[in-house]
Amino acid sequence: MKILMVCLGNICRSPLAEGIMKTKVPESFVVDSAGTISMHEGEHPDKRAIKTAAHHDVDISMQKSRPITRADYETFDKIYCMDASVYKDVMAKALNEEERQKVSLFLEAAGKFNNTEVPDPYWGGMEDFEKVFQLLDKGCNAIASQLTIHNL
Ligand code: 4NP
Repeated sequence: MKILMVCLGNICRSPLAEGIMKTKVPESFVVDSAGTISMHEGEHPDKRAIKTAAHHDVDISMQKSRPITRADYETFDKIYCMDASVYKDVMAKALNEEERQKVSLFLEAAGKFNNTEVPDPYWGGMEDFEKVFQLLDKGCNAIASQLTIHNL
């Protein structure tokens, strides 16, 4: 099973989602992340995201931002988008129904949450990063159990 987490810049939300998900799935799973923009390409995650993850014993410091590529639509089985705008952009670049079916909103796939979007903490403070971590952690628990039941 190959999972791709996608947000806008690939420096805040999707690096956290990648790091958290890796702690919840078997080692045979591939978990990666990407952004819809290339503005931060090659950069490590935002310092606040690294610090928040480290506080929960998750190390995301070695990750590097990259934009989503055409190959990702073929390589990955599941592509989880952090918000509606990211979902729209990722869906728009899918070439066919098979690729579109891989794409979903992260919180919709996780189910049982009132909101469908993981809020962007980029313009916020450390408390916003912590809230995002908690939301992603719950979402990853739900998605990881769905996926591991069927794909061990
Ligand atoms: P992310 O957050 O999509 O969660 O990585 C953002 C990162 C960068 C920008 C916006 C959001 N930016 O405008 O540069």
